Amino acid sequence: AEHAQPTSHTPLTSTTPTSTHTTTLGSNSSATKPGGKTMPTRKIVPRTPFEDVKLLRLIGQGSFGSVYFGLWSGAPVAVKTIKSFSSGSVDGNVPAQSFEALLTASISHPYLVQTYKHGERMSSCAEGAPDEVKGPGASNLHETWIVQEWCDGGTLRSRCTVPRIELKDLCDVVEIGIEISRAGTYLHDMGIIHGDLNPNNVLTKKMSTRRGFICKVCDFGLARVLEGGTDEICTQTMGT
Ligand SMILES: Nc1ncnc2c1ncn2[C@@H]1O[C@H](COP(=O)(O)OP(=O)(O)O)[C@@H](O)[C@H]1O
Ligand SMILES: [Mg+2]
Repeated sequence: AEHAQPTSHTPLTSTTPTSTHTTTLGSNSSATKPGGKTMPTRKIVPRTPFEDVKLLRLIGQGSFGSVYFGLWSGAPVAVKTIKSFSSGSVDGNVPAQSFEALLTASISHPYLVQTYKHGERMSSCAEGAPDEVKGPGASNLHETWIVQEWCDGGTLRSRCTVPRIELKDLCDVVEIGIEISRAGTYLHDMGIIHGDLNPNNVLTKKMSTRRGFICKVCDFGLARVLEGGTDEICTQTMGT
């Protein structure tokens, strides 16, 4: 079935985009009428490059792109888009903005957010591009699309808003630490450095366990892969 979990250690491949850059209508917003009354409006969400993936609402927006809640053939998914302006077309080398998609599609672990599929799309220099990339021979807008397992429990940060001092809370802390460490051990064995491990990049997924959720490490936007045989890497500190 299409929703089966990908096998671990799949080769780095990219799925083929199936449509061009257009927009479609979502339905989850409201606006204030003159006079103060709110009325439902339709919010524009982008169309994905995949025929079978529809976006429903925006979850978060950063400088590099956006994260949406969507449906993949009816199943809930998170869809992350990473946008950049780059000159020319994507050549045989992996473009930097595709690295997160390729990396996360090649790994699989119970305590990591699973990437199901991904794709690239180029569109001509769109409205909103910085001035320096407009004009003849202008750069293209490069989009990377990542379809991921939906984590419905919020970030670990959002669960750390009140002090918890009971014995069961300490058990939770130990279990959370173990889950994140297991994900870290898996990454270490694969020669992957996450580079930005913090409570905002640990999502939670509701489960019918004593604690009610499990942890899933996400966001490999600053990750690095160690070259064969190397066990250290020297980079600029960018994450937290
Ligand atoms: N798979 C997911 N399921 C649910 N929410 C997600 C998922 N991936 C990302 N998000 C939401 O989007 C936010 C930003 O995602 P992240 O991958 O950390 O991107 P960024 O590079 O913008 O930090 C997360 O903190 C979380 O709130
Ligand atoms: Mg993040």
